Formats: sequence, C-alpha cells, structure tokens
Amino acid sequence: SDPTQGFNEYEFPLDSNWEIPRQQLVLGSILGEGAFGRVVMAEADGLPRSPPSSNNGMGTIVAVKMVKEEHTDADMASLVREMEVMKMIGKHINIINLLGCCSQSGPLWVIVEYAPHGNLKDFLKQNRPGQLQRRSDSDGYLDDKSMQPQQQLGEKELTMFAFQIARGMEYLASRRCIHRDLAARNVLVSEGYVMKIADFGLARDIQDTDYYRKNTNGRLPIKWMAPESLQEKFYDSQSDVWSYGVLLWEIMTYGEQPYPNIMSAEELYSYLITGQRMEKPPKCSLNIYVVMRQCWHFESCARPTFAELVESFDGILQQAS
Ligand code: ADE
Repeated sequence: SDPTQGFNEYEFPLDSNWEIPRQQLVLGSILGEGAFGRVVMAEADGLPRSPPSSNNGMGTIVAVKMVKEEHTDADMASLVREMEVMKMIGKHINIINLLGCCSQSGPLWVIVEYAPHGNLKDFLKQNRPGQLQRRSDSDGYLDDKSMQPQQQLGEKELTMFAFQIARGMEYLASRRCIHRDLAARNVLVSEGYVMKIADFGLARDIQDTDYYRKNTNGRLPIKWMAPESLQEKFYDSQSDVWSYGVLLWEIMTYGEQPYPNIMSAEELYSYLITGQRMEKPPKCSLNIYVVMRQCWHFESCARPTFAELVESFDGILQQAS
C-alpha cells in the first residue's frame, strides 16, 4: 500500500538537512524488533555511499527504524528523540550514524547505517574458535567476502574490537551522551569488522529505570549495571565504563552470559559490594584483565575514563604488533 495515501497520524516539522524522498527507499526484511520499534533493511538510491563497497552496483543498503502498528504516543516521542539526539551528536566511525529520515506524508522512518555482520554478541558466538562456521543466507548476497573462508578471531582481533568500542564511547562521552545500556548486544559489526555502538540515542527515562525493565531481547540488563545504577539509579559516563568492563568480558569469552549463577539485582549487588568479581576468562591476557578489573572499581571515580581506556588499548595493541 502507498504510505502517502494513508492518513497521517502525526505531523513533523520538515528538516531539509536530513529529509530524504520516501520513494528512494525500498524496504526489505526485518532486522530486529523491540517492544516499541522495528528495524527494517532497505535499499536506497541517491544516498552518498559510505562505505563505497556496501552495495553491488545497486543502491546503498541502510537500516530503517520505525514504530510498530501497536505503538503509543510515548513510543513515537522516543523515536523522534532518538533521531534528534543522533542529529546533535554528529558522526563518528565507531557509532551507528544517522543517514537521514522520511518524516513527511507517511510514517516516520529514521534511516541509519546498516551493519552487515549484525550484533557483536551473536557475531562472537558464531566465531568461537573450533566452531563450524555457518553463515546466514540473508547477509550472504550483500557481502561477497562471506563467500571466502572466514579468518579466525584471535586475541589481536578481539583487542581491536575493544579498542574501537572505547573510541566510540570516548566520542559519545565527549558529546555528553550517556548510553545506559552498553553491552555486546548493542554493538553492531560493520564491513571490515568495524565496531559501531548502537542505540545510544534511545530515550531512557532516568525517572523510571527500574531493574525490571527488560531490554529488547526480554533479558534484564542488570548484569551490565554499575553498583550505583543498581542502588541509586545513578548513571553517568563512569557507570558506562563499568558496563564497558562487562562488555570487555563478553568479548574475551566470545559472547558468554555474564554472572551465570546470579538471578536478581539484589543478589548481584551483594556479590559486588563484598568485593567479588568475575574471574579472568581463559583466553584473556593478564593486561586486558587488569583493565577489566579497573572498570569494575566500586568507586566510579577510581575507574578509568574512556579516553584513558583508548590509551590503554592503544598501548596493548602496540605491544602485540
Ligand atoms: N539490527 C538493528 N539495527 C541494525 C543495523 N543498523 N544494521 C544491521 N542490523 C541491525
């Protein structure tokens, strides 16, 4: 059905810096679905092609965020806010960048970069050493490299992932953006294994972040939360650093579930306040485990900043090469 023929539920001011004609997009399959929203793959023509190889002579592949049919006004407000935050923050290689939007005569479509390898958690699980490499057909035709045998993910590659995510977070922190749900499931893997932080513009209501709010996968995000977030619902860039430590643990375990035996926020908090922490993963070098443990200082001011984390990983990568 032609979306321009339906009645318009909402009207948005035209922002000519970002508006893209709706006819330039051909929607494809669903990439992901959350409680309120949906992400759909699309082919777009007439968009600046970055990266240049993200198409096979066809249009650029993009991801389109929209609300589901059964959305509330609050869901729509959240999508609009996410788009406005992305406009304000500006571009960086290690974040999912806004490409444009379709906001006139029809449903709101927020167009962002498409990451062909999907989320980092599933990517790590699919690339565990000694595991049969299976590739989904859905991304096969978009990525001719997928036809070649895959290289193994070793310590060098994993350290590079951690470095790139620290870079993206350093940028977001410098733009005064607090993520509040940094985890491997919210990092996307782009062409050439470039890490891109996703969902940083989501309106996370600081007032009602109760622990029982589930993430888009229906899981409780408590295991990534800093003690001060668990206890006082307090979030800042230093609580993002705690979450980054858990994400580092996810990377070094090829996507294991953290704290497998802990079942509740109360149990996690007493585990942490008594000084207990997750052990060094078998494949993790001691210097990376030291960084992980620094991210898990109970006192947030004792944790490194993202700028310091970038420096640490820069040093670790130079030692390795
Ligand atoms: N799933 C959700 N957002 C995505 C994106 N931008 N690229 C690829 N898969 C996604």
